[in-house]
Amino acid sequence: MRTQVGIVGAGPAGLMLAQILHLQGIDSVLIERASQEHVRSRLRAGVLEQGTVEMMREFGVGERVMKVGLRQRAIDFRFNGESHPIDFESVCGRNTWVYPQHEVVSDLMAARERSGLPVVYDAPVSRIEGLDGGRPVIHYERDGEPLRLECDYVAGCDGFRGISRSWIPADRLKVYDRIYPFGWLGILADAKPAIQDITWGCHEDGFAMMSIRSPTVTRLYLQCEPDENPDDWPDDRIWAELHKRLDVPGLPRLEEGRITQKGVTAMRSFLAEPMQYGRLFLAGDAAHIVPPTGAKGLNSALADVKVLARALTEQYRNENGQWLERYSDICLKRMWLVQRFSSGLCTMTHQFRGDEPFVRRLQRADLEYMTMHAPGRLEFSENFTGLPVEA
Ligand code: FAD
Ligand code: DHB
Repeated sequence: MRTQVGIVGAGPAGLMLAQILHLQGIDSVLIERASQEHVRSRLRAGVLEQGTVEMMREFGVGERVMKVGLRQRAIDFRFNGESHPIDFESVCGRNTWVYPQHEVVSDLMAARERSGLPVVYDAPVSRIEGLDGGRPVIHYERDGEPLRLECDYVAGCDGFRGISRSWIPADRLKVYDRIYPFGWLGILADAKPAIQDITWGCHEDGFAMMSIRSPTVTRLYLQCEPDENPDDWPDDRIWAELHKRLDVPGLPRLEEGRITQKGVTAMRSFLAEPMQYGRLFLAGDAAHIVPPTGAKGLNSALADVKVLARALTEQYRNENGQWLERYSDICLKRMWLVQRFSSGLCTMTHQFRGDEPFVRRLQRADLEYMTMHAPGRLEFSENFTGLPVEA
């Protein structure tokens, strides 16, 4: 097979890139290791920045999010037995949307089907050659048969555990990595949200969050050990811990309901720079991971591909390679700010075992500054609703 842009990985980054390129008249082929059903049903992120929703509308995949997405205007931070909401819509005039990642992926898959262009599922990529000279070739396998895709450019959209990044020579890549000493136990429950805002509990026994999936389903998170076995968390223990960390006097108690799913997510900050090498361009989790505080993983992946699609369009339409050359610099400038926000919020809201009382009091002062002082509220609001994308 031959195409203009070979895309490794059909997660949100790969599918969105394919959609924008298609609208610009640029051909691509997506090669995905997993089955279509597996990719469609993976439960992950839930919050979209305003810019992400605007981008989905601009590129023809925004109809359903506008119909069934839940518009969010505030986050309620709870600590010291009190509620401290930040109404980010009134602070910075922007909002976010609750619309789960698997819905974004479904919308993008439907758009790809409409385009009539290929996605090759069940096809792990094992090797990429010709990145720093001739013409790239992507080697993959389908039903045990070795196959190749020739292309002009390769987009490495194959997530943190993908293979694209490994084709950048180690001496050309600088990697930053921090693993946090805790994880999140994520829970899906048939329970009504007690209030309409996502609620963060910053408690001395650990962090908790109540997020929303629909008017009858909540997504809940509890700080836990990074290698925790979810089976050690029977339902009674989960609800007791959630009530302790999230309820405050004078406001409705968290609603309980049937728990339909639970799993543990580890927490990591990771960034590889530069995000390009020769004709290979990394986007999304293939280049960077953030802890989920701030809900930036999916949004950052889509911000990268907006820049990459613009750069490829400039190259194909106007033979202007300047944008491709600057791709990594443009993305990293924004991404370091996103790393700062996600990691800062994680450190501010979670309990680190062994922290001295002084550090814990500083943590409280940080929370008070962010929620009770106008500059703190503004900084949170601008970052949470999404920094601009230069493209
Ligand atoms: P991915 O979604 O990882 O997609 C990469 C694709 O590449 C996958 O489909 C994979 O199968 C494919 N692939 C990998 N290797 C190969 C190969 N060799 N050949 C071919 N294909 C390959 N973010 C948030 O903002 N909020 C959250 O609450 C949140 N929760 C998360 C929970 C979990 C368990 C995980 C893992 C992530 C979570 N994230 C969250 C992060 C968010 O889901 C990611 O940032 C987002 O999926 C990034 O999209 P992507 O397309 O870059 O990568
Ligand atoms: C979710 C919501 C958040 O505000 C966040 O920081 C992380 C995850 C969610 O709805 O899954």
